[in-house]
Amino acid sequence: MSERQKTLLLTGASRGIGHATVRRFNREGWRVITCSRQPFPEECPWGGGAENHVQIDLANPSDVIEKVELIRSKLDGRLDALVNNAGISPKGPDGERLNTITTDLRTWGQVFHVNFFSSVVLARALKEELAAAKGAVVNVTSIAGNEVHPFAGAAYATSKAALKALTREMAHDFGPMGVRVNAIAPGEIETAILSPGTEKLVENLPLRRLGQPEEVAATVFFLCSSESSYISGTEIEINGGQHV
Ligand SMILES: NC(=O)c1ccc[n+]([C@@H]2O[C@H](COP(=O)([O-])OP(=O)(O)OC[C@H]3O[C@@H](n4cnc5c(N)ncnc54)[C@H](OP(=O)(O)O)[C@@H]3O)[C@@H](O)[C@H]2O)c1
Repeated sequence: MSERQKTLLLTGASRGIGHATVRRFNREGWRVITCSRQPFPEECPWGGGAENHVQIDLANPSDVIEKVELIRSKLDGRLDALVNNAGISPKGPDGERLNTITTDLRTWGQVFHVNFFSSVVLARALKEELAAAKGAVVNVTSIAGNEVHPFAGAAYATSKAALKALTREMAHDFGPMGVRVNAIAPGEIETAILSPGTEKLVENLPLRRLGQPEEVAATVFFLCSSESSYISGTEIEINGGQHV
């Protein structure tokens, strides 16, 4: 008998780390369902195509709650992996870092909806499907959740610190259902989210180079595979030694 095809749901697949991750899972034979604000990118199709994409604005809580039913209708009652990857890191009008004094509350709220609340809303809404598959959740945090970063703003950093704490809480609550919950904390990965000036920072990293989205995707894949079957509630740093 052939093995059942596994299903991944990933937020923020249109660029960067999310894009590399869906390509990796697709290559490994998984069905991939994606969510982001943009429509399905016809120029870069994978697997099931447009019917496996849900247009959603994670900054808008009512949109998330409404679209959950549409997402559920695309599953066959089982979800093997949920990767909460979408994230925003707003800057000031001249590209400056927004700190605890200069971040207005509206921006702070938007960041938390995309980077933090959407993760728990999706996981909770799909907990039966995750439990049925004994699935895995991966929350994409950041090095900025653990220390002040020269470019990442205060709203971004605190949302990622909260997401790390949420990973611990969810691992506790979802564990009895057989669902593992982990986080990955990238450092400087070559994507559109990077700020000008990152090249200077990279000169001092132990590995002296940026990370590639495919290197992050490999860790996400590991955390969603049976190779990591006893790992839950942890955060893996993917940063070329930046934290040392
Ligand atoms: N790159 C790095 O160096 C780095 C370092 C640490 C952590 N991270 C984290 O890694 C994750 C991916 O980062 P990345 O660098 O790949 O970012 P990116 O290239 O900027 O891509 C962000 C993704 O999130 C989606 N997104 C943004 N706002 C959204 C919204 N309101 N609703 C739905 N989707 C939304 C975007 O799709 P649409 O535009 O189609 O909505 C896009 O696919 C983020 O959580 C980021 O914080 C990245």
